[in-house]
Amino acid sequence: MYRTSSDSAPLPAGAYPKELLTGFAPRLIAWQREHGRHDLPWQNTRDPYRIWLSEIMLQQTQVSTVIPYYARFLERFPTVESLAAAPDDDVMALWAGLGYYSRARNLHRCAQVVAQTHGGKFPSTVEALAELPGIGRSTAAAIASFAFGARETILDGNVKRVLARVFGVEGFPGEKRVENAMWTLAETLVPGPKASDADVSAYTQGLMDLGATLCGRGKPDCARCPFASDCVANTTGRQRELPAARPKKTVPTRRTWMLVLLDGDAVMLEKRPPSGIWGGLWSLPEAADEPALAERARDFGVTPERAASSSVLAPLTHTFTHFKLDIEPRVIELKRNAAPLEVNDGQSAWVPLGNIDAYGLPAPVRKLLDGLRGPLI
Ligand code: ADE
Repeated sequence: MYRTSSDSAPLPAGAYPKELLTGFAPRLIAWQREHGRHDLPWQNTRDPYRIWLSEIMLQQTQVSTVIPYYARFLERFPTVESLAAAPDDDVMALWAGLGYYSRARNLHRCAQVVAQTHGGKFPSTVEALAELPGIGRSTAAAIASFAFGARETILDGNVKRVLARVFGVEGFPGEKRVENAMWTLAETLVPGPKASDADVSAYTQGLMDLGATLCGRGKPDCARCPFASDCVANTTGRQRELPAARPKKTVPTRRTWMLVLLDGDAVMLEKRPPSGIWGGLWSLPEAADEPALAERARDFGVTPERAASSSVLAPLTHTFTHFKLDIEPRVIELKRNAAPLEVNDGQSAWVPLGNIDAYGLPAPVRKLLDGLRGPLI
């Protein structure tokens, strides 16, 4: 067993069994040659343009979706120069449906840089490739290894899963510390200097193939895996725990004060600014603290003579993706016989509590006002 039990730090690459480290590439290459994928449209070419195009399309999209797009792109833009010279709209139109449109914009910019700065030839080193728009470290390594036979490692999500399972790498692979350890491990695994270009390509493709087929996220097919007898996940039954899931985020909490201003059965609603949370929705008037809320009430014309009562409601919490919002509701009821407060600015409105459905309120505000309907009217 080469996993530490006392902490969840990934081990340094040198801490894994030597035979597994040295045997990894030959075993993977042998497996890829027999069981891997060999006839994808971007295989069996060394043309960096075709390889680059496929790798960008495959970044967040699965193979079966990419295939027809890839064919149409190559038909319309057979060379990097033709892509570079195309109008933006043509590129975007051909990309439409693949999603993640910044990829298409970067793709076009990258083609222009290659055409203009590199004389139409993709550079051959990982470092130079990774300088180009839209090409990260792993994509640069994939292009360098497939097109130029460079002994470079990829490390995308599939490869992280394979390494985490086979080597028992603990920790969430999206965390920098874990990712760095995985890069180091992946670098020690690439075939040695005697490997041919074909071996290097088979190795890189093998990493992708294993991660996309046998070692998938759901139910890995360990019985057919070339690493079954050594794989930490398989031998310890931890396939579901490796790689570790993203840790639950602790989100920050914001606090806001809301004014529930009631005149008989009507409540004062206010239209929110167009951007930010609940942009453009109607809601309750808000302020960042209690005194500021009192000032807002005064701005609406609420004076001590006009107010019949003021009260504090229990706070409620609303959870957004990136933060929690604690809402502190403060209620002011106007005297029934007081002259009505006029608001006529299009941004505020008196709305009967029975009619708030027409205003599409944010869920917690709706909940808050629903709670008032019974006792107050
Ligand atoms: N995913 C990323 N690159 C790939 C490739 N070259 N073949 C199959 N799937 C991939």
